[in-house]
Amino acid sequence: MRENCFVTGGTGYIGQHLVALLTSRGHPVTVLMRKPDTLPELQALIDRHGGNARLLSAVAGDLSKPDLGLSAEALRRMQQAKVVFSLGANFAWGLSLDEARAVTVNGAVAVAQLAAGHGSRLLMLGGFMLENHAHLQRVGVDLSVPARTDWPAVYRRVGGYEGSKLEAHFKVLACMQALGGELTIVHPATVCGHSQTGHILPAQPLAELIRNLASGKLSAIPGSPEHWLPVVPVDFLVELMVAAAFDPEQAGKQVLALDARTPNLPGMLELLAGSLGVRAPTRCMPIGVLRWLLKIPGLPTLLNTSPESLDFIQTTRFDTAASKTLALKHRLEWPDLQASLQATARYVASA
Ligand SMILES: NC(=O)c1ccc[n+]([C@@H]2O[C@H](COP(=O)([O-])OP(=O)(O)OC[C@H]3O[C@@H](n4cnc5c(N)ncnc54)[C@H](OP(=O)(O)O)[C@@H]3O)[C@@H](O)[C@H]2O)c1
Repeated sequence: MRENCFVTGGTGYIGQHLVALLTSRGHPVTVLMRKPDTLPELQALIDRHGGNARLLSAVAGDLSKPDLGLSAEALRRMQQAKVVFSLGANFAWGLSLDEARAVTVNGAVAVAQLAAGHGSRLLMLGGFMLENHAHLQRVGVDLSVPARTDWPAVYRRVGGYEGSKLEAHFKVLACMQALGGELTIVHPATVCGHSQTGHILPAQPLAELIRNLASGKLSAIPGSPEHWLPVVPVDFLVELMVAAAFDPEQAGKQVLALDARTPNLPGMLELLAGSLGVRAPTRCMPIGVLRWLLKIPGLPTLLNTSPESLDFIQTTRFDTAASKTLALKHRLEWPDLQASLQATARYVASA
């Protein structure tokens, strides 16, 4: 089946790999782009990632604008999509509530409303912290009645990016329930490089961690020996997303894309350091102490670490049964995680 797809965030890291996979399978893809005149650059990237750029086209749009800033013709193109993939987000540390919400929440809700109105399946990317219910309660999300959540208070605790991801998730769920739309959500762990090539973009959190390790800025292991930063290779993540998006049984489901074999942080740093030819830190520093130290002016810049990034380092383990079942059903093989992490470290070091 060659189904039309519409993608927001198609120029981003996960988006590039998703568009490459969809077009390699023969699906015509329309990407919403803030700068559609850069389509030729995106097409070249898609070909390099193994996709078929001839099946890729773009419409001008902006997630922060009413109706996504789409023209009537672009809305018609979106209407033809069997699946709308919602990946676009303002992904950066230190965002204000307004900056983050305008794109990540309002944009995702507008995408959901249009997808439901057109009768398209919506495949939205959330994040693995949405499956950490104890964390959600700790930061103030009202899980029994999400609409009662004091969102500005949540943003103050977790920062603009994560606050907006959490708010977007619950607002999109409520919107799709009210409109009767078909929704599937994939929650990725921190995304690691391509399992074969190690390809990763420099702004990705894992690339930042690897650069800090390589440059000696990471002098202690954040947390305890039980802490971890679960990851998923980008190529496996997009395979899982595409399988979920076209599988009728996945309508209304949420899938956690996380490799439960990710080593704890000390082991992961050791592995990455081995590939970089540097020494891994051996001393642990409690997250609370690190968070406190990062309040010292200048230290976040000096250590190239934002306090917001520490929230993703936790001790919680997750139930990955649903993603294992989905992978098995679609004959997807989980890549060798150690090799993927090593390839990512080599890619970052050579970039
Ligand atoms: N990477 C991870 O570790 C991770 C983990 C969990 C969840 N996620 C989620 O996965 C999704 C994709 O992440 P990513 O790592 O691929 O992020 P990314 O590389 O930063 O890409 C973000 C995308 O959003 C687009 N965008 C930003 N503001 C926009 C606006 N106003 N209008 C239209 N498009 C806009 C960007 O387009 P431009 O090219 O115009 O900037 C880009 O295509 C996000 O929802 C993120 O929260 C990522």
